[in-house]
Amino acid sequence: MTHATETELVDRAATFLHERLGARVTSLRLGLVLGSGLKDFAQRVEQPVAVPFAEVPGWPVPHVEGHGGELVVGTVAGVGVACLSGRVHLYEGWRPADVVRAVRTLRRLGVPSFLLTNAAGGIADDLSAGDLMVLTDHLNLTGGSPLIGPHEAALGPRFPDQTRVYSPRLRQLLAACGARLRPGIYAGLLGPSYETPAEVRMLKGLGADAVGMSTVQEAMALNAMGAEVAGLSLITNLAAGISPTPLAHDEVVAAGKQAASALTALVTELCRRLGVGGRTGA
Ligand code: HPA
Repeated sequence: MTHATETELVDRAATFLHERLGARVTSLRLGLVLGSGLKDFAQRVEQPVAVPFAEVPGWPVPHVEGHGGELVVGTVAGVGVACLSGRVHLYEGWRPADVVRAVRTLRRLGVPSFLLTNAAGGIADDLSAGDLMVLTDHLNLTGGSPLIGPHEAALGPRFPDQTRVYSPRLRQLLAACGARLRPGIYAGLLGPSYETPAEVRMLKGLGADAVGMSTVQEAMALNAMGAEVAGLSLITNLAAGISPTPLAHDEVVAAGKQAASALTALVTELCRRLGVGGRTGA
């Protein structure tokens, strides 16, 4: 058997979802990736239809505790949304192409705009646990890219421009939603260990405001496919060395749960504004 290309894998998944969800897929306006502790938002979706990742051909299934794994399609404030509740990470051993297959599938189905959420450690002096940071840019320090390999034109240009990975329009819409949002640069690392204090000092020197283990692969893949992308970090802790206490995964998940209501309100308002503002030609 010859090896399937990424385009073939994505198209197979898209065909399956089209058959399973019918006309619902044609009215999707926003794709949402819900990070650690942020899955509760999926319960806000009205007229929900859930499809476990495990049922979608070719979609990898997350193993990490607290990450579940299902696609929830429905509406929020009257706007069609597709929530990826749970995501797979490079640190589980997945390849970059696996990590982005679900968002590529949604983009292939015609979803114009995406909001990538994550839990992150705060590096900038003015960030505290519980804050929300809207991404203005990122540092991909994972050492990988979903675009490595033979060029597949359906997934974007060979050498995609990355001047504006995070859409200024979506950032403005988010800023107008009323939540306290700090703009900042997200450093995406491989994990799964948290950073050493020396690494955090290095990241600060490189211009990072927050650090996490996700988001950059999805943002690169979606940008290459011409999607409108926004990124939102929930600062669950101060990064190692900035915080006087060692980091604990349980605390990261608990902080995510605590801030979930602020995030839910923000995303609901974003949907409302997307519904009023109309779609772009992304
Ligand atoms: N570092 C990396 N990833 C994270 C952190 C952190 O401090 N907090 C939540 N995710």
